[in-house]
This record gives sequence, structure tokens and C-alpha cells, in this order.
Amino acid sequence: MRAVLSKTPGGPETLVVEDVLDPTPKTGEVIIEVKAVGINYPDTLIIEDKYQFRPERPFSPGAEVAGVVEAVGEGVKGVRKGDRVIAVPGWGGLVERLAVRAETVIPIPDAMSFEEAAALIMTYGTSYYALKDRAQLKAGETLLVLGAAGGVGAAAVELGKAMGAKVVAAASTNDKVEFALELGADNGLIYPSGPMDKAAQKALSGEFKLATGRDGADVVYDAVGGDYADPALRAMDWNGRYLVVGFPAGIPSLPLNLTLLKSVSVIGVFWGAAVMRDPKAHAANMVELMQMYADGKIRPRVSKTFPLEKSGEAIKALGDRQALGKIVVTVES
Ligand SMILES: NC(=O)c1ccc[n+]([C@@H]2O[C@H](COP(=O)([O-])OP(=O)(O)OC[C@H]3O[C@@H](n4cnc5c(N)ncnc54)[C@H](OP(=O)(O)O)[C@@H]3O)[C@@H](O)[C@H]2O)c1
Repeated sequence: MRAVLSKTPGGPETLVVEDVLDPTPKTGEVIIEVKAVGINYPDTLIIEDKYQFRPERPFSPGAEVAGVVEAVGEGVKGVRKGDRVIAVPGWGGLVERLAVRAETVIPIPDAMSFEEAAALIMTYGTSYYALKDRAQLKAGETLLVLGAAGGVGAAAVELGKAMGAKVVAAASTNDKVEFALELGADNGLIYPSGPMDKAAQKALSGEFKLATGRDGADVVYDAVGGDYADPALRAMDWNGRYLVVGFPAGIPSLPLNLTLLKSVSVIGVFWGAAVMRDPKAHAANMVELMQMYADGKIRPRVSKTFPLEKSGEAIKALGDRQALGKIVVTVES
């Protein structure tokens, strides 16, 4: 089978496509014939050895896949050959066939395409865990989403609306803000795309306050970091919750005096670790997400697809800040 491999640390240009042996199912495993692979920011980090996990090389990036069960190993119950399923292996997904533990696969609803299914779990799983379990977002509260047209950001916009919040979407271009408004955001603003000095940060904080309303944001969803974090923190309401999700723009330092003045909680979000520590809570969130999909409240927006052999270009497009919603690699075997 074909596999996209990282053999040396580096950018997407270092990835190679090679023929490797097909996997065979061990006890308790299923083999998935992969149809689609969701691309996520961690794919840009893991190939450069900058992610929380550092798999042994050669390895394939690709954290989440959707496909059809092609074979089942001994002892597998509840999953059958021909089932349409999602798996979130963390890496290893940019391949034609993948072995995973049977109990980890999630059935794909009939109405959901493979592309949507491959773009669902990491983004909505992260954002739902962040908004529901970590921030305890309530109906009527104001949610400010930074990077609102990216993968987890767009999911946060839709989930925020589904949870009854007033959602303010912030992003670096007009197209991205328009995209977030189409997803249901109540209000949007464009922020500068490059680094900001103190004056520009102060001005941005004023814009955040204007866009969120007189009292500021109850919850900030920050999957961007960098120079955007300080202005967002300054635009928070009393008892605000600041969600630390990711740092594509760099790891910021926050002035803790601001958290004291507004009684703000800064809350770390590490979805992957939370899933491992509390699989039952994760499974319950997945059931709720699937129900929201069935009710038409959420829908992954796949704006661009690439074939397997162009996986490097797909990862590059995401890293270059080009994605609206999700980028997905499709696999023809
Ligand atoms: N904590 C967790 O459990 C968890 C789980 C999944 C992902 N994450 C993290 O969340 C972040 C977003 O992931 P994603 O998959 O949603 O990525 P994505 O689709 O690429 O979205 C990232 C957004 O960040 C913004 N951005 C700002 N500066 C950037 C820069 N220098 N380079 C690239 N993007 C920049 C972009 O929006 P604008 O152009 O509008 O600024 C972009 O839309 C990543 O840091 C990822 O590692 C965390």
C-alpha cells in the first residue's frame, strides 16, 4: 500500500510517498481502508518534532481518518467488515490501510460523507471539551473566538451558537470573518495578521471590547496565541474564562495582574490527554456531537481536498494560514 512518511524532521516538503507492507489485524484490531484524512495543525508540528508526541521514524502523520472496515482481528466484537468508521490514531493516518483497536472506532452516520467524518472529531471534540467541560459556557454568555475560520475555531463558533452563546468571531482576513459569520457568528472583526506593538495591541483590545459589547467576553477561545492573547485577555468580563488551546502565532505570556482585576480564570485545554484520562466523558461528548450533527447544528466545512500523494501540499496550505474550515486528503485505493 502507499503511505506518506516522515523520515527526517522538517516541513511538509520532507514527506515522501512510499510503498509499504499492508497491515494485518492483530487480536482486537480492525483494518480500515482509509477514504479520507482530516488535516490538523498538529500535523504541521509532529513532522518537525515540535508536537507533544514524537513518534519513532519513519511514521506517517494524519491524526484522524474515515474509511471502511476491511478486516477484523480475533476477538473483535461490535465492529464488522464493511462498517463505515472514524478513527483518531493521533498519527499514522496518511496511508491506504490502517490497523486500530476495534474499541476506539466510531461509527459514521449514514448521512455523513467520509470527508465530513474525517474532519469532525479533533476539531469539534477539542472545542466541545473546551467550551463545555473546561469553560462551562452558558447560554446568554459572550464567547470571543480567535482564529474563528480555522479548524478548531470554526467548530467553536458553531458549538458556541449551539450552546446558546453570543459569538464574536475574530480572524485575519475579511474572507475568514465572512466565513465565520456564515457559520452563525453574531458579530465579527478582522485583526492584524502580523506581529503587533503595544499601541496596536491596545487598539485591538478596544475593538474586541466594542465587538463583544459593554462588559466584554465571558469566554475567550484562543487557538492562536502570540500577540493576540494580551488584547483578548484585556477585553474580558468579570469571572471570565480564558481557554488556552493553541499557539500557531507563538506562545504568549499573560500579565497575571489582569486575571486578578477581572477575576478571570486561565484554563488549559489538552483534549488528547483528556480523552485518554476519561474515555467515558469523551464517549458521552461524541454522542452529543453526533446528535448535534443529526439536528443540523454542526457541520464540518471542508473547503479543499487533496489526493494522498499531495498530502505535503495539504499540510503546507494549513501551515501557511490558507485554510477556511477544514482541509482533507482523500484516498483512492
Ligand atoms: N489543545 C488541544 O487539545 C488542541 C487540539 C487540537 C488543536 N489544537 C491546536 O489548536 C491550534 C489550531 O489548530 P487547527 O487544526 O484548528 O489549525 P488551523 O485550522 O490551521 O487554524 C489555526 C488558525 O490560527 C490562525 N493563525 C494565527 N497565526 C498563525 C500562523 N502564524 N500560522 C498559522 N495560523 C495562524 C489562523 O487564523 P487567522 O489567519 O484568522 O489568524 C488559522 O486559521 C493549533 O495550535 C493546534 O495545535 C489544540
